[in-house]
Amino acid sequence: MNIAVIGAGYVGSVTGAAFAALGRRVTVIDSDAGRVERINGGQSPIYEPGLDALIASMVGRGLLSASQRYDSVFDADAVFIAVGTPSRPDGTADLKYVKAAADSIGASLNPERFTVVVDKSTVPVGTAGLVASRIEQRSGLKRGEAFAVASNPEFLREGYALEDVFFPDRIVIGTDHPEARRVLRMLYRPLLARTDYSGLAHLIPQPSAPGPEPVYFETDEKSAEMIKYVSNAFLAVKISYINEVARLCEAIGADVTDVAAGVGLDSRIGGKFLQVSSGWSGSCFPKDTAELLSASRKYGSELTVVKAAVDSNRSMHDYCVEKVRRRLKTLIGKRIGVLGLTFKPNTDDARQTQASVIIGSLLELGATVAAHDPQGTAMFKSLNPDMEIRYCGAGEEVADGADAVLLLTHWDEYAVLDWKAVRVRMRTPYVLDTRNFLRKSPWGEWGYEYEGMGIGTDR
Ligand code: NAD
Ligand code: UGA
Repeated sequence: MNIAVIGAGYVGSVTGAAFAALGRRVTVIDSDAGRVERINGGQSPIYEPGLDALIASMVGRGLLSASQRYDSVFDADAVFIAVGTPSRPDGTADLKYVKAAADSIGASLNPERFTVVVDKSTVPVGTAGLVASRIEQRSGLKRGEAFAVASNPEFLREGYALEDVFFPDRIVIGTDHPEARRVLRMLYRPLLARTDYSGLAHLIPQPSAPGPEPVYFETDEKSAEMIKYVSNAFLAVKISYINEVARLCEAIGADVTDVAAGVGLDSRIGGKFLQVSSGWSGSCFPKDTAELLSASRKYGSELTVVKAAVDSNRSMHDYCVEKVRRRLKTLIGKRIGVLGLTFKPNTDDARQTQASVIIGSLLELGATVAAHDPQGTAMFKSLNPDMEIRYCGAGEEVADGADAVLLLTHWDEYAVLDWKAVRVRMRTPYVLDTRNFLRKSPWGEWGYEYEGMGIGTDR
């Protein structure tokens, strides 16, 4: 089977490499020459553990290539749209990239063969219909005859993308078109059976907890589009809930880690996504909750639970700043070291990260900031050009003369910093660990004042 994937970003490059690994012939199409060049050179265009090696192998076997041109759409059995859908200022999803991709696909379709066009991007309900209309206009072909548009939302997490794509819980397919359903079933068959993985075991990370085979779930387009938003919003609500509980635990004197562990033992609730943080962020939850909220308002059925989670999340960012301010009395003239600029570890993605909100507040309140991230500094810098930050090449450096070190992202390398030596570099040895990631370290013994979230203070 021939596959074209439009977009070589966090979703497109992983999707392309994964289909190639299942034996499909894949062309990833991207307007960005740099991303195309990287893939053709056997490298990943983004930082994602394991992806470099997988892309190198698939390019080497002649199963994966990249192009700026849409020519390969002509021979494709399925064309996946995986372009960005960023937020507009009013919170709704901006579909300009999806529309442009649909137009280019329309101009490149082969009228003599049936092609399934698949929305893998996260798109508002009704977008499959919109994409079909644009393709009809461009190609002069009729939907349902030479082509059909299906929804196949992506559920991968950055940092675990390969594991999530090869060992998913579910594959959701939204289309009522029988031929589109047949093509997609065939395409996903090896992934469902996991038959073709044996030769690739060294390239595919095994799941931390092997689960059952994925559920292949077929529905209509709109329901599939809805499933994606409702899933992300549900997870955001879950995190906001435990984050608020952390604040209550702090006030009451309970330990939120134990509370979350105990609550998560109920199989109806589950222990995942109950890790306390300075708030969820990144390129997906903020934009997807915003779009779902505006859609719910547009249809007169506001999702007030999601609105509460969004508000609560913003207040969680503020709460972290408030904790530092409370400890240092004032932030004017104080030096704060920040560890972590990405929204989570194992990614270079610094889009809409909590660090930008928290650092923005710290600077506004008169502090100076030194920051470090193992992978995300370049993107963070380019997205926040006006923030006056001293960027550090090593984690330890953020502590130089600092009144507080604020750990925002739980990168493994922060667990193995020489914290004893770091103590000597600080003016005030205060650490706020917003992930409770380093709570087991002997902070008191090292002469620190350590605070986590919802777990009390170790002086
Ligand atoms: P991204 O910004 O990393 O990548 C998008 C790519 O599309 C870019 O390289 C861009 O140059 C390219 N592009 C844009 N318009 C194009 C066009 N007309 N023709 C060819 N190339 C074009 O985006 P992403 O993070 O991969 O997200 C893509 C979609 O997938 C979004 O809707 C997102 O919500 C969704 N999603 C993302 C994740 C994730 O973890 N990032 C997970 C699940 C779903
Ligand atoms: C999320 C979803 O988990 C994916 O299923 C989805 O495909 C993706 O969004 C998307 O639509 O793009 P991702 O944004 O990569 O994936 O990262 P998550 O692991 O979900 O984390 C999101 C945010 O929540 C991060 O800021 C993370 O630190 C935070 N988080 C996560 C917590 O604060 N606590 C938790 O327990 C889990």
